[in-house]
Amino acid sequence: MNPTAPVIEIQDVTKTYRMGDIQVHALRGVSMQVFPGELMSIMGPSGSGKSTLMNILGALDIPTGGIYRLDGQDVGKMNDDHLAEIRNRKIGFVFQSFNLLPRTSALANVELPLVYSGAANGRERCIAALEMVGLGDRIHHNPNELSGGQQQRVAIARALVNNPSIILADEPTGNLDSKSGAEIMRIFQELNENQGITIIFVTHEPDIAEHTRRIVRIQDGHIVSDSPVNVPKRAGEQAYTRRARDLITDDAVN
Ligand SMILES: Nc1ncnc2c1ncn2[C@@H]1O[C@H](COP(=O)(O)OP(=O)(O)O)[C@@H](O)[C@H]1O
Ligand SMILES: [Mg+2]
Repeated sequence: MNPTAPVIEIQDVTKTYRMGDIQVHALRGVSMQVFPGELMSIMGPSGSGKSTLMNILGALDIPTGGIYRLDGQDVGKMNDDHLAEIRNRKIGFVFQSFNLLPRTSALANVELPLVYSGAANGRERCIAALEMVGLGDRIHHNPNELSGGQQQRVAIARALVNNPSIILADEPTGNLDSKSGAEIMRIFQELNENQGITIIFVTHEPDIAEHTRRIVRIQDGHIVSDSPVNVPKRAGEQAYTRRARDLITDDAVN
């Protein structure tokens, strides 16, 4: 694949929710490209369309209009099986509320996505994923025996277990104190830097967004700014492309 090709490309994406006679225009024509190996945050006020955008990027919801290409393929033309496969294998999700099964061990929670994909060496991979997020000594704990930050780390391990190329995280630090939130950010940064995973997350917190090279701001269903922190836009775009290319070259060498 062309190393400079975007992994995600949306063009003029709209989403209108219909509730009886009322229409809510959650997205009013959003266009953006995301390149392999980017770490970016999406910011915006409550109700501005961030979760709607994330759900579309994750193929959890379909846009009302516009085009979404993932790895160059038109998501709008995929059948349900193909969409399920994309959700399971290509994309890892992390949510604000962790979404773990209660009364179920960390290990069993992390094993859940493998039930559908039927991958080999399942248990070893799950333990490795839990070790990667620093929970190797907590694999038999249930969520109610773990702190919020630890529960979110279980959710990250679950998102990692099928080796996704993209992680989408909707306000992953929203329910955490600032110390636990910073830990979660450090894990995302490591996954991005060491494994080249493309990571997009939504946050309200400027402190958290500053950990990323690129910040997209959304307001009332529009992107109102899209630029890396402290870097002029054009220079920033070139830096992303160069970084993506470096990552791919590293992979080829290792
Ligand atoms: N399932 C839904 N049905 C109807 N309206 C919705 C639905 N989901 C979101 N909305 C509306 O769409 C707008 C954008 O919501 P959302 O994407 O959740 O915003 P954010 O994540 O930025 O807070 C809001 O006005 C919200 O009320
Ligand atoms: Mg939201």
